Amino acid sequence: MTTTPAAFQRCISPECGQTYDLSQTLVACPKCGDLLDIAYDWDRLAPPKTWKDIEANWAKRTNPLNFSGVWRFRSLFPFATDEQIVTLGEGQTLLQQTDEVGKFVGLDSGKLHLQYEGMNPSGSFKDNGMTAAFTHAHMVGAKRAACASTGNTSASLAMYCSVTRLMKAVIFIGSGKISYGKLSQALDYGALTLQIAGDFDDAMARVKEVSKDMGIYLVNSVNPFRLEGQKSVMFRVLEALQWEPPDWIVVPGGNLGNSSAFGKAFAELKELGLINRIPRLAVINASGADTLDQLYNNQEVRWNGGNYPRHKIAAYYEKMDAENRKASTLASAIEINRPVNLHKCLRALSDCDGVVRQVSDQEIMDAKSRVGSGGMGCEPASAASVAGAKILREQGVIAPSDRVVCILTGHLLKDPTATVAYHTTDQDTFNSVLGSRGVKRATFANRAVAVKNDMNDIVQAIQLYG
Ligand code: F0G
Repeated sequence: MTTTPAAFQRCISPECGQTYDLSQTLVACPKCGDLLDIAYDWDRLAPPKTWKDIEANWAKRTNPLNFSGVWRFRSLFPFATDEQIVTLGEGQTLLQQTDEVGKFVGLDSGKLHLQYEGMNPSGSFKDNGMTAAFTHAHMVGAKRAACASTGNTSASLAMYCSVTRLMKAVIFIGSGKISYGKLSQALDYGALTLQIAGDFDDAMARVKEVSKDMGIYLVNSVNPFRLEGQKSVMFRVLEALQWEPPDWIVVPGGNLGNSSAFGKAFAELKELGLINRIPRLAVINASGADTLDQLYNNQEVRWNGGNYPRHKIAAYYEKMDAENRKASTLASAIEINRPVNLHKCLRALSDCDGVVRQVSDQEIMDAKSRVGSGGMGCEPASAASVAGAKILREQGVIAPSDRVVCILTGHLLKDPTATVAYHTTDQDTFNSVLGSRGVKRATFANRAVAVKNDMNDIVQAIQLYG
């Protein structure tokens, strides 16, 4: 296998720091068990000196690698040769400025931007990371790839397998824990879909075991190559802002892959001299899946130069298991109690002067409806970013004049059940989908108007409501 010689894998623990060749398939450091980064010896590579070098790629977009919103930034994560890259044209996403949603958050005009990652080919940000992990899987000759998923990772993996025919997808999902939009993707793309009796955390533990035993390539975000691709979300945000960093990046926190990738992206851009200021990072948990918030805010767990308090984290999980506490939120994408990238996220929070908050399902659903009515819409988990920005604004952590970017991680159509239940006039549907989760009201519901199939009635309804 040919590898880019100055790129390698490295344990994130500064105390350990063990390095590994790119040809190895690893999801943890064999020496100490901590997470791995992809690291670069920039002096031996040719990173861009200015953003103009990157912009030049767009003029050459007939090359699929330059058309991809991920790979046209490949000089910022050069672990593969051009010939090795597998791309489906992912990353054609948009940064939209919206005053309508900005008003809801409490920001001055022109200050709120929404980054629409739902525009990716499988409808979520996962494609940014999947193209990178899939490329590495192909580099090492994998024939089967697996993941545990709350739905979006599995949809993305299944799509890369179905289009390229390079690998077979094996996906593990918690039974009843995945929304219909996502399940339908995995089934239609032809992935082997294993519904495990349990939740995402159970499926994650199991898929790690099975892929190790059977030598199946694991594409969850413990895979360090995934996060290299996800750095491109921040490159595109900067590009859309003409390379001027915003004040805040606000992102939902589930397995904490995005937040970790964003922190790494900014640390590297600063090191390379491409930015001189790092935005602040806000990671938003759902209240029913609030491990990061509990550890960061209640127990004051910090990265601390890599000496984070392992005993506190272990004790937290022990207690959680003893109480049989399971994650529970209707934002099913982030219904996760054991975020696999916790340590990397702590590092990102340290590098980006970060904050962590949690938001209720009520706040998530209300924010989601505002995003829908003032923009292109998103799934519940994504709206946690907007609900979180609103809370941080109310607390005075974010100022009205701050430039804020909320990441919308998945498309509105991923979870039609939640959306329809929010807007419904049918109390039973509302109660079974939302009321059961503690959502008390649909504050911004847009109710369908029932009319007879009659010209007069229809005209009257339009005059009355239109
Ligand atoms: N938003 C959406 C729409 C997601 O699908 C996920 C994660 C997240 C946010 C959380 O991102 O893990 O980087 O903190 N979904 C995974 C999945 C777990 O299986 O699709 P994170």
